[in-house]
Amino acid sequence: MKINSRINDLFSRVAIALLLIMLMIGCSKTDEVKMKSPDGNVEVEFLLKKDGSPNYLVMYKGSKIIDTSSLGFEFRDMPPIKDNLVIDNVEVSNISEIWQMVWGEQSEVENNYQEVKINLAEKNESDRLMNVIFKIYNDGIGFRYEFPEQKNMNDIVIMDENTQFKLTGDHKVWWIPGDWDIYEHLYKTTLLSELKVNVTDFDNQLAQTYIPYNAVNTPVTMKTDDGLYLSFHEANLTNYSGMTLLVDNEKFMLQSELVGSADESKVKITTPFVTPWRTIQIGEKAGDLIESKLIVNLNEPNKLEDISWIQPMKYTGIWWDMHVGRMSASWDYNSGNHAATTEYTKQMIDFAASNNLMGVLVEGWNTGWEDWTSAEREGIFDFVTPYPDYDLEEVVRYAKSKGVEMIMHHETSAAVTTYEQQLDTAYSLMKRLGIHAVKTGYVGTIIPKGEYHHGQFMVNHYRKVLLHAAEHQVMVNAHEPIKATGIRRTYPNAIAREGLRGQEFNAWSADGGNPPEHLTIVPFTRMLAGPIDFTPGIFDIKIKYRENNQVNTTIAHQLALYVVIYSPLQMAPDLIENYEGHPAFQFIRDVGIDWSETKVLNGEIGDYVTIVRKEKGTDNWFLGSVADENGKSMEIDLSFLDADKKYNATIYKDADDAHWNDNPTAYVIENKVLTSEDKLSLNLVPGGGCAVSFFPVK
Ligand code: NOJ
Ligand code: CA
Repeated sequence: MKINSRINDLFSRVAIALLLIMLMIGCSKTDEVKMKSPDGNVEVEFLLKKDGSPNYLVMYKGSKIIDTSSLGFEFRDMPPIKDNLVIDNVEVSNISEIWQMVWGEQSEVENNYQEVKINLAEKNESDRLMNVIFKIYNDGIGFRYEFPEQKNMNDIVIMDENTQFKLTGDHKVWWIPGDWDIYEHLYKTTLLSELKVNVTDFDNQLAQTYIPYNAVNTPVTMKTDDGLYLSFHEANLTNYSGMTLLVDNEKFMLQSELVGSADESKVKITTPFVTPWRTIQIGEKAGDLIESKLIVNLNEPNKLEDISWIQPMKYTGIWWDMHVGRMSASWDYNSGNHAATTEYTKQMIDFAASNNLMGVLVEGWNTGWEDWTSAEREGIFDFVTPYPDYDLEEVVRYAKSKGVEMIMHHETSAAVTTYEQQLDTAYSLMKRLGIHAVKTGYVGTIIPKGEYHHGQFMVNHYRKVLLHAAEHQVMVNAHEPIKATGIRRTYPNAIAREGLRGQEFNAWSADGGNPPEHLTIVPFTRMLAGPIDFTPGIFDIKIKYRENNQVNTTIAHQLALYVVIYSPLQMAPDLIENYEGHPAFQFIRDVGIDWSETKVLNGEIGDYVTIVRKEKGTDNWFLGSVADENGKSMEIDLSFLDADKKYNATIYKDADDAHWNDNPTAYVIENKVLTSEDKLSLNLVPGGGCAVSFFPVK
């Protein structure tokens, strides 16, 4: 009965206005198609120039934001597709629906757009077909290419995709380089005209780095002189190479440059196929980009039937020990200081059980760490054999008795063949033990040689692992991953990933770690792609086991990250000894992990941002606000709170004299009763932050 009314309710809200207009355009071929978003603010014009070359431009509220930009492809052993095209027909449909997130930033997502499919044909003897499909939303656009089955194109090799984005001014850009292997770089902020990728600025200490061009990785975010925010990315990256964007400083032009492989080709594929969506998110406020659901909307609905085993969770584990080198704790059993022991894991399980953390991750449990960075890494790691001091079965038994979920760890060291050979045994073991989550890792140069982390070969590998995991009821948290492109909608076991400079850099990098501004840029760039396993929550800011390293924020800033950084997996990574006796740890115990609502209250990229989220299934709200090295004072309007309730608010804030470097651990906890009519003044010190929990008064 209850379920029925829920379904009815759903159907009545899914107002699908499907208007299909097939415009068969006769001999007087048109060479221009106009389309717009449901609210009319975003307008796109597709046009064929005199030479039959396909182009498009984008307007927002009547002003051009993308000037005439061309589309096309280059192939191996075949002429490019770039001109000589005619429009065969145009299909238009208008869609408005609401779908439910399995887990996410909010319960329901509105998916409302105009779709226009433009079927193109070559008018020369090659007679090839290529369609361009646009979806125009209120918060931006997506477009992709479709190559139908056809007589003159079957198995093809794409040497490059030439999709242009011609910008209309010298915008301010937040970017990382177009590295083919790793996204773990600090963001730079420059004008488009000054965006120069100097490779030596981006030496990475953990992974292979290959930065061939003056290109950036996506999402890349910009602010125009008119104060508009734009972000460029891709959605549904499937059986294709990741896209970087080549930057022309003089023409203010971005052009797609796909990640390659040893034979210099970019994509090997057979018709019929579609490319990933090329996306442009548009916001009048910086926070609009975070609230936009364009990337997941451009992916297909959930394909997993049984999702009962998919569960957002907070977790802790044996991890930071190794990164800070505590008592030279090591992944490697033979070091004499092996961290992943049965006994230490049981301590972690106890700690998780008594602190509302559902999961425990253990790294260094399996054999192979002795040689994990050697050149010949195939056949080294074993994903089913524990070291002698780690009793996997006993650990799992103990965890179950305490209601704690174990999180498996598979560091592949990028020896992909070795991993693929063991997928069956490794995932069958997890299934047998009832382990529903794995953290994977791909440190190092990809073997086979000549492949890159972000090329088609690896895109397909990551997908293969995700699907294999789903069959074994396992959620995947990939490190050194391919970027998120909204696949989480289709396969919600894609629970989180790294793909940025995470907390770990603060433990060992020689460049001073992540600067205070880092997490004021990440929400507007990397986070637009999807959930991040950043591992916030370090309390021992000065890292006592590392003389030359520290975290460059206050403790209050670390707490705020549990709300600011979106992820259905959030770690409490610091050592137990560093949490003990800290009243601020209560916020990590309390904070939600899955949300029914998310709102960005304020923010400027690289300066500060404040986000509030309502916990799914409860009436609890949580607020997180972080600032860069300049700090930020603000007044928060609490009108987001439920109007009919009073809340016990616990405010975890920087002490007046706190400072990310000089006094990072000074915080104050304040309790207040507040309602939606109240205002809250926040004073974030340099590198500071504020976290607030709001529980309804019973
Ligand atoms: C790099 C990952 O980002 C980190 O979290 C992990 O501990 C190491 N690789 C070892 O797998
Ligand atoms: Ca990493």
